[in-house]
Amino acid sequence: MVREIIYTADEIKARVGELAREISAAYRDKDLLVIGVLKGAFIFMADLVRALDIPCQVDFVRLASYGTSSVSSGRVALTKEAEIPITGRHVLIVEDIIDTGLSLSFLVNNLRSCNPASLRVCAFIDKRTRRKVAFEADYVGFSMDDGFVVGYGLDYDERDRCLPCVCIIKEGTDDCSVQ
Ligand code: PRP
Repeated sequence: MVREIIYTADEIKARVGELAREISAAYRDKDLLVIGVLKGAFIFMADLVRALDIPCQVDFVRLASYGTSSVSSGRVALTKEAEIPITGRHVLIVEDIIDTGLSLSFLVNNLRSCNPASLRVCAFIDKRTRRKVAFEADYVGFSMDDGFVVGYGLDYDERDRCLPCVCIIKEGTDDCSVQ
C-alpha cells in the first residue's frame, strides 16, 4: 500500500489556524466546551484548541461504529460519555472525519437530548459524497471525494494515526512508503 500525501503538515497547520480564528470569533463571549470524538479526533482537537485565542474546557466521547476498518455497518454506539455536564453549555463537537454521517447524526441527537445552549460540529475532513444520512458540519477543514485516508489521527487498522500529514491509501502494492 502506497500512502500518497494529500494534505501536508504545513497545509494542515494553516487550515487549522483559519478554523481556530473563525471559531474564536464565534465563541468570544461564550463559555465554550469542546468535545472531541475519540480516537480519531485527538490530534486535530489538540492542535485546534491550542490555536484558539479564547479559553475553553475540553472533554471527550468515544463512539464505536461497527464493521470492518474501511466499511461501516451503520450501527453506532456511545462507548464513553462526556464527563462535563453539557446542559446549558455552548458545545463544539470536534471530529476527524465525516463519511456516511451516521456517527455524527447519532452523536448530535444524543447530545441534543441534554439541552446544550448551542451545539455545533467542526470536522477536519468532510467526505461529502459518501453520506448515507444528511449531515452538515458547521466548520470543515478539508472537503474531499471518496478515498481511504490516514494520518493526523486517522487510522487504517489502528496504524498511521501519528503521521503529521494526511495520506490517501493506494491499494495493490506491497510498498509501505509515504510519497
Ligand atoms: C471514524 C471517524 C468518525 C466516523 C465517521 O471513526 O472518527 O467517528 O468514523 O464515519 P461515518 O460518518 O461513516 O459514521 P472510527 O470508527 O474509524 O473510529 P476512530 O475514531 O477510533 O478511528
